[in-house]
Amino acid sequence: MREADLILEHAAELATPVGPAPRMGKAFGELRVIRDAAVAAADGILVFVGASRDLPSGIRLRSGGLRLDVAGKTLLPGFVDPHTHLPFAGTRAHEFKMRLEGRTYEEIAAAGGGILSTVEATRAAESPVLASLTLARLDRMLEWGTTTCEAKSGYGLDLEAEVKQLRVLKETSAFHPVEIVPTFLGAHTFPKEYRTRRDDYVRRVVEEMIPRIEEEKLAEFCDVFCERVAFTLAETETILEAGKRHGLKPRLHADQISPGGGAELAARLGAASADHLEFVSEAGIEAMARAGVTAILLPGAGFFLMSAHRPPARRMVDAGVPVALATDLNPGTCPTEAMPLVLLLGCLTLGLRVEEAITAATLNAAHSLGRADRIGSLEEGKQADVQVLDVPDHEHLVYHFGVNHVETVIKKGKVVYRRSPGVLGG
Ligand code: NIG
Ligand code: FE
Repeated sequence: MREADLILEHAAELATPVGPAPRMGKAFGELRVIRDAAVAAADGILVFVGASRDLPSGIRLRSGGLRLDVAGKTLLPGFVDPHTHLPFAGTRAHEFKMRLEGRTYEEIAAAGGGILSTVEATRAAESPVLASLTLARLDRMLEWGTTTCEAKSGYGLDLEAEVKQLRVLKETSAFHPVEIVPTFLGAHTFPKEYRTRRDDYVRRVVEEMIPRIEEEKLAEFCDVFCERVAFTLAETETILEAGKRHGLKPRLHADQISPGGGAELAARLGAASADHLEFVSEAGIEAMARAGVTAILLPGAGFFLMSAHRPPARRMVDAGVPVALATDLNPGTCPTEAMPLVLLLGCLTLGLRVEEAITAATLNAAHSLGRADRIGSLEEGKQADVQVLDVPDHEHLVYHFGVNHVETVIKKGKVVYRRSPGVLGG
């Protein structure tokens, strides 16, 4: 007889994409939906997912296990947020004010604000300060249903500060239920000291930083901001090829502010993802589809920057590109941890259906992090990362917007977050 540590039963609905691979084309919008649903987990793994009435009599709750009635609630896989700039210090609220007064993101950056102002604050922050800021953000992610996130460095831009950011990720990861997938983004922009010596900075990234990241096992991926205001195609390729030689898989910030062939390069390098893509070309879309590069769309950043340009999400779906959604959590272009807001914007500004947005924020996001065999869906054999939402079905998660519906979050079969109950305990 199979024993379970945790059983959730009588959920109004369970909704999940299925499979160990990304969902594309028509399948992108297909969720498995089960009414009066139950799940059971043993040792962190789902051992039953189905209708409550089918909970096999063969599954017994281990003594000391937990059985929860979740009547009226909806179960979804925990969100996977595949693009964040998590470990930073300082705030850029004053830049938000400037933008509301009519200045653009690029103008503010050229005047000494932007990424470089966060670099200054992050270099100045001691590790324990950075760790506590990071933990607070991880707490907020969890409150909004995120159970795994990717997290980039990129506000250090020198060996010491980049390593500091990545070490903080490693340390906090060991003390927080949200699983962190670390990415080295030493090529986020050129630091002040190297503004007129671009080749020297690229050389430092390649010869000094990347080998050290490998040596200390500080990252899984290497990312570059490939853009006319940041790194050229050739510089991007040099850095990502060096990353590959040191075991770091490539991802790219591509075609965000201008069309630059970033998507084509991502395909050529076999990158895990190309992100942003507001100005992706038709050839870039086709190349990504052929190479299986995931398009990570960040509608929160476009919304917060009041940008009129949107990535051609439907075209990418129709072309067979795996599409994922992420927050882009960062102090300049998207200061939010809330994935449900990103799903809403994915629907309202990119034209996704609710079911597509859910798949984009779970299974397809997990695929872009190389984890679709383990997380991103609620299926027997996968890790028990579950969010319990106080809504009658998955549609309401997006439709009833601006409200946090997360009631309980389960990570690897353990209850890691419970919304504090009201005075009547309801
Ligand atoms: O993803 N595009 C570059 N990087 C960030 C912005 C970071 C910042 O402004 O601090 C982004 O939008
Ligand atoms: Fe970003």
